[in-house]
Amino acid sequence: MKVILTVLGYVCCVVGVVLSGSELGSFEDFTVIEKQKEGLLSLVENDRAASPVSSKPLMVPLTLIQGAASTGAVCLDGTLPGYHLHRGYESGANSWLIQLEGGGWCNTIRNCVYRKTTRRGSSKYMEKELPFTGILSNKPEESPDFFNWNRVKIRYCDGASFSGDGGNEAAKLVFRGQRIWLAAMEELMSKGMQKASQALLSGCSAGGLASIIHCDEFRDLFPKTTKVKCLSDAGLFLDAIDVSGGHTLRNLFEGVVTLQGVQKNLPKSCINNKDPTSCFFPQNLIANVKTPLFLLNAAYDAWQLQASLAPRSADPHGSWDDCKSNHARCNSSQIQFLQDFRNQMLSAVRDFSRSSQNGLFLNSCFAHCQSERQDTWFAADSPLVKNKGVAESVGDWYFDRVQVKAIDCAYPCDNTCHNLVFK
Ligand SMILES: *[C@@H]1O[C@H](CO)[C@@H](O)[C@H](O)[C@H]1NC(C)=O
Repeated sequence: MKVILTVLGYVCCVVGVVLSGSELGSFEDFTVIEKQKEGLLSLVENDRAASPVSSKPLMVPLTLIQGAASTGAVCLDGTLPGYHLHRGYESGANSWLIQLEGGGWCNTIRNCVYRKTTRRGSSKYMEKELPFTGILSNKPEESPDFFNWNRVKIRYCDGASFSGDGGNEAAKLVFRGQRIWLAAMEELMSKGMQKASQALLSGCSAGGLASIIHCDEFRDLFPKTTKVKCLSDAGLFLDAIDVSGGHTLRNLFEGVVTLQGVQKNLPKSCINNKDPTSCFFPQNLIANVKTPLFLLNAAYDAWQLQASLAPRSADPHGSWDDCKSNHARCNSSQIQFLQDFRNQMLSAVRDFSRSSQNGLFLNSCFAHCQSERQDTWFAADSPLVKNKGVAESVGDWYFDRVQVKAIDCAYPCDNTCHNLVFK
């Protein structure tokens, strides 16, 4: 158990944001959960005691995809995949927002076998209903551009960003991410998405990576007359060197790609030029995505700092512990390391951002998944870049109201961040 947690990034916590009660957030999405063990988020920066208590979130029931079994589109343990759909109405009746759930990856037989016993690998353990907040909210005051769209959260139970295909008989594991993606699309098309006039594929974290990988496939489901775009939230995982000079994330991704047979489902434009593991990194994909794409990411992505830059395996003495749990406790050389990471992120998006159809919001915060949480997506004190928040930026780009290429000044200039701080 401990080993699995370490492999996946040892910080796995249920994030209880003080101000919004006991909402489940960001890091909870990543990893195998062991609730009390590791740091629990204690607060967000900028204490906002004055924020109104948000009204009860909409709860949306889980639907299993009954037809999925016939194509073998099943979770790691062979159970049916699922999704949560809340119908749109009026001007949003023919508009579809699809969100691919995140939650890390499994890269070894051992941690995939463990994952089968969780909601990230089996629908047996999935919540029967989920709150729809942030971009998924049904309230205009919480998601002004998408509240009356058809909104769908597709559950993640394959462990390879909806992209694997294969299995391991001895371990009774099936890797069917790509088939789950296809089965979910087929199901939603039959539920009305076929008639969509507008569609947006989104996702956070492992789901944000999936939304990049599947963006053009999604586009191709619709006729040319349909407006189709993709949003990747916290999906910009960089092939970066960790604090010990190693390649923690590349090693993890190599395991995922190899174990789960991901290669055949990655874009040929990349596979023809690079090794398969490189083609699981967005930096090698985004320039070739033909569909308009928006990258929303914290420049000091809290998950990447915790799990890929300074995981315990790369920092055996824990000299990064203070810094990675609270940015205010980083010393000058650690900040320098993080600035270098931000610079790598900026160079990764340079060509991508030249295209007028693409959008960008890279804020200088220690955050992760800013579209799913109400406080970061759209609230009175949400993070801003050049005076504009996340929801407005994504809306402006989607509806072509104005171009959005928001790159924040470097830390510590931004005082609108909702930084994640861990105990
Ligand atoms: C910052 O902290 C690290 C880890 O404890 C240490 O190795 C480094 O020397 C420190 N740098 C400065 C400038 O204090």
